[in-house]
Amino acid sequence: MITSDVLIIGSGIAALQLAVKLRNDINVIVLTKSSVKNGNSHMAQGGVAASIAVQDDSYNHFLDTIEAGSRHNDTLAVLEMTREAPAIIEEMKDAGCQFDVDKDGELMLGREGAHSVNRIVHAGGDATGKMMVEFLISQLRENVQVVEDTLVYELLLNARQECIGVKTLASDGQKQVYKSSHVVIASGGCGQLYRYTSNADTVTGDGLALAYIAGAQLADMEFIQFHPTLLYVDGKTHGLVSEAVRGEGAVLVTGSGKRIMEDIHPMGDLAPRHIVSQTIYDYLKNGEPIYLDISSISHFETRFPTVSGICRDAGIDLEEGKIPVAPGSHFLMGGIKTDHFGQTTVSGLYAIGEASCTGVHGANRLASNSLLEGLVYGRRLAHFFNSLPPERLEPDHEAVLVEDKKTGALPLPEKAELQRMMMERAGIVRHGDSLNMHKKWLESFQVEKWLDEKLDSRTPEEITRAFMLISAWLVTDAALARTESRGGHFRADFPAEEDEKWLKQQIVNKRMIKK
Ligand code: SIN
Repeated sequence: MITSDVLIIGSGIAALQLAVKLRNDINVIVLTKSSVKNGNSHMAQGGVAASIAVQDDSYNHFLDTIEAGSRHNDTLAVLEMTREAPAIIEEMKDAGCQFDVDKDGELMLGREGAHSVNRIVHAGGDATGKMMVEFLISQLRENVQVVEDTLVYELLLNARQECIGVKTLASDGQKQVYKSSHVVIASGGCGQLYRYTSNADTVTGDGLALAYIAGAQLADMEFIQFHPTLLYVDGKTHGLVSEAVRGEGAVLVTGSGKRIMEDIHPMGDLAPRHIVSQTIYDYLKNGEPIYLDISSISHFETRFPTVSGICRDAGIDLEEGKIPVAPGSHFLMGGIKTDHFGQTTVSGLYAIGEASCTGVHGANRLASNSLLEGLVYGRRLAHFFNSLPPERLEPDHEAVLVEDKKTGALPLPEKAELQRMMMERAGIVRHGDSLNMHKKWLESFQVEKWLDEKLDSRTPEEITRAFMLISAWLVTDAALARTESRGGHFRADFPAEEDEKWLKQQIVNKRMIKK
């Protein structure tokens, strides 16, 4: 058994920010399923939103966030995040993070969808996530130990149902128990539930499933953001084409050059993401390919080296000025329900970053608010832990509650089949009939039994598929229950945004399952 004061699951921007901001005398273990540089944060292109421009202020950023979120947001959380944004960027810049600056040393600010002004801070052109993750890694001190290639497959509870540690399985087959009174889930969302996604292979809903199995509340699981522009070649998506490309002037066109967003929304190509995604989806469904026309952008390869790289790898000739695109899953607005410091409804268990649902994103996240969320909530939770007296940081030595877990020969869906079904039936456009059919299909794999299944003798692949099954079921069930359309959730059978009733979050936890 290994102990630490704080145990973090995941190694993206929220996890690293928390680890960096914790006091030197707090010992920290970061567990990551793959390598510390492999994850969504590292791949993030666009940047970090912050009201830095002279003509901007945090209230404008607040209003844009609420508008993009279809007014479903927790307004206090949005106020806090948008107010903290400029200082957090200044702090990182002063500490040495190399954001892109102009010849006078001023931060260069890009534009993305649904922002009323330029406020996207970026680094390395379109390599913002990579630059920030690598910067935070360089800031880690001796109190932080990063353990790679280690999958967490169970949260440990004591008799009072408090989280006191985790069980892990390393890629070499070694099992381990880590004890800590403060277990933080920062393992991201569930983008890999879908056939088309911008997400890293590792983002399979693990943290969501772990928290749900342990009895934590989850909220807003129906709200999945589909990014409008993933590179789309030979029926497959090949990574993100940042919205910043449209921010620099690229426009969405059909093969014959007709602009598709002009009559759809006053913000045109920079309309909120769900509107752009649904528009592209309609064209693709009718067999009409859609392209980003980049011909107006000079020095494209210098401004967008990451996008240029993925296009080259997929055989796209940028000289032709057209990039074929399709929408794909990008971000989960819902997640593990937390307060404004990352505390979940299970004592000793915390969640930050995309895994959490603070309510900050509402029904649809504003572009470039995700790295920001990670920075803000990583720092907030660090301040909370830093203020605890030493005795509150000691691991709980109580016995682990031995739960009545079963070992059965339960079935599991194939990963590719699950991803295909989620895209078709719980994707960009949903309908009660297909959601119902899909829920039944998921339940044919005995999801509820998987919640009580002992995973100790399962392979990493089986554990991942079980976590994907549970997360898919949570998304589908929530999408079925919300009989309106709002933000990232669109129901063809209930196309309108309904009234006040639906402004409240849909909260679920394991105890609500009717047996
Ligand atoms: C992008 O670069 O388009 C993605 C940024 C984000 O999702 O906020």
